[in-house]
Amino acid sequence: ANISILGVPMDLGADRRGVDMGPSAIRCAGLEERLRSLGYQVRDLGDIAVRRTHLKSGGSEANLKYLSEIVRVNTRLCSMVAGEAAKGRFPLVIGGDHSIAIGTLAGVSSAARRTGVIWYDAHGDVNTAETSPSGNIHGMSLAASLGFGHPALTQLGGHAPKIRRGDAVLIGVRSLDPGERIFLKEQGVTVYTMHDIDRIGIAEAMEQAIAIVSRGTDRVHLSLDLDGLDPSEAPGVGTPVPGGVSLRESLLAMEILSDAGILTSAEFVEVNPTLDVVNRTAKAAVELIASLLGERII
Ligand code: ARG
Ligand code: MN
Ligand code: MN
Ligand code: MN
Repeated sequence: ANISILGVPMDLGADRRGVDMGPSAIRCAGLEERLRSLGYQVRDLGDIAVRRTHLKSGGSEANLKYLSEIVRVNTRLCSMVAGEAAKGRFPLVIGGDHSIAIGTLAGVSSAARRTGVIWYDAHGDVNTAETSPSGNIHGMSLAASLGFGHPALTQLGGHAPKIRRGDAVLIGVRSLDPGERIFLKEQGVTVYTMHDIDRIGIAEAMEQAIAIVSRGTDRVHLSLDLDGLDPSEAPGVGTPVPGGVSLRESLLAMEILSDAGILTSAEFVEVNPTLDVVNRTAKAAVELIASLLGERII
């Protein structure tokens, strides 16, 4: 199989500098060589340019910081991801903040009949401008992909929704805003909180998640926010929440997903090297990607 790496040095969705260096940090941690050693034919398509001129203006939309530039970058990301997928290649997107999931999911779902998604994250990212306490679009990307939020986000790529509410599963959740709790309950989205993972174990949670996202779908995407992991092992993130999934559990989760043989694309987001300790979080990302794509001990 063939893999196309796409970097998106986006930080506007987090409204915090440093996460734009995530793609570089993940490359420095040896991503390409690691994938080559697994036998893949790898193409690194480089980074999509993000304009920093919007930093002060913030745009005109209420509680949607940097909306216009985030839409522009995600539109470009959507067409690049769609192009790689159409060639039969596996799109591997590296971020950048989690607002880029809007473009990735728009791209992978454009030629799909139905797309499932596993959202591995401490957060729900199901805010809209109406519920967001921060106005940061990285906290709205799953809602937008499910068809909720500003039309510029929900309609990106020309089709909506990208994901049906029964085809999304959240894993590792331990921080939800009040409006997000209501949204997830109302929509009936499956959520494996840390409470659930502690009770049933990460293996069972992943197996149930895989069954849900693969039933009736023709594509399955993994959107992994590094803050899903415990900050003791992935400290280089902008919105750390204690009590997360361990690296060891997360590696097992990737291996189980890999063994299921259903995954057609993935993204790894929110690595912020300015908050990290000797590139530990980017290294964790590379370990997770290797496990996800078939690396085993023996
Ligand atoms: N729920 C908070 C917000 O909406 C935090 C979101 C964090 N999202 C992320 N992708 N790290 O601002
Ligand atoms: Mn998060
Ligand atoms: Mn389903
Ligand atoms: Mn997130």
